[in-house]
Amino acid sequence: MAASSSRSFAEVQRRVSGVHRGTDPEQQLRFYDGWAPEYEQDVTILHYQAPRLAASCLASAIQGPLADALVLDVACGTGLVAQELQAKGFCRFHGLDGSQGMLESARRKGLYQELKQCVLGQEALPASSGFYDAVLIVGALSEGQVPTSVVPELLRVAKPGGFLCLTTRSNRSNLRYKSQMQQLLDDLEQRGLWEKVKVQEVERWERATSEQEAMEGSDYISGVVYLYRKAQTVGF
Ligand SMILES: C[S@@+](CC[C@H](N)C(=O)[O-])C[C@H]1O[C@@H](n2cnc3c(N)ncnc32)[C@H](O)[C@@H]1O
Repeated sequence: MAASSSRSFAEVQRRVSGVHRGTDPEQQLRFYDGWAPEYEQDVTILHYQAPRLAASCLASAIQGPLADALVLDVACGTGLVAQELQAKGFCRFHGLDGSQGMLESARRKGLYQELKQCVLGQEALPASSGFYDAVLIVGALSEGQVPTSVVPELLRVAKPGGFLCLTTRSNRSNLRYKSQMQQLLDDLEQRGLWEKVKVQEVERWERATSEQEAMEGSDYISGVVYLYRKAQTVGF
C-alpha cells in the first residue's frame, strides 16, 4: 500500500499521539503539513487498513464500469484511497483536504484530476450539488479531526443514487464521536435522504498506539466502514 519504512513503532506512536488531541482545525492541519512526508511510512507501520477496506467496499457495490465513476475523495491526505481505488479499476478522482502538505503529496501521485484545499466543518465543500457518483471520507471522521457536521455536505455533492463511503474508529476515546455520528447517519436515513447499503465492523483496523487505546487482549483497535446510497429523489 505505501512505501517501506526505517522508522520505529515508538517514533510513530509519538507522532500519532499528536493527532487526536482535539486541537483547533488550523493547528491540526499544521500538524498534518508536518506529517505529510512521513505519513505513508508511518501508516504502513500502523498496519492502517482503512483505504483498502473502503475501496473494496465501494467497488463491490457499484454496478457498471468503475472507470466511468467520478469519485470525490474528501480528506484525501496523500492519496492512499485513490491509489487503492485505482487498483480496483477506478480512474476519475477529485480530492479535497485542509493540509497543503498533504495535498502536495497527493498531487505528486498524479492520480487526481482536481485537488482543492478545504477546511472541512468550517466551509461548504467546493463542489456542485449532485455531482459525484461516489464520495468517500476515510480516516478523518474521528474525535479532534473532521466534525460530523460535514456529513450532510457529503450527501449534497453526491448524485441521486450515488454512493457514500465513510469510516470511523471504534476505540474507546472515539466512542462518543462514533455514537454521535451513528445518530446522524440514522437520522438522515429516517428522513429518506439515503439508505444504508453495508456496515462493516473490522476488529484489526490498525495497531493501537497507546495502552488505553488497546482493546482487551488485542494490540489493535477496531473500526468501521459505512456504505450508503443517496436517495433518487433528494431535492438538492
Ligand atoms: C488520517 S489522514 C487520512 C488521509 C487519507 N484519507 C487516508 O486514509 O490515508 C486525515 C486527513 O484529514 C485531513 N483533515 C483533518 N482535519 C481536517 C479538516 N478539518 N479539514 C480538512 N482536512 C482535514 C488531514 O489533513 C489528513 O490529510
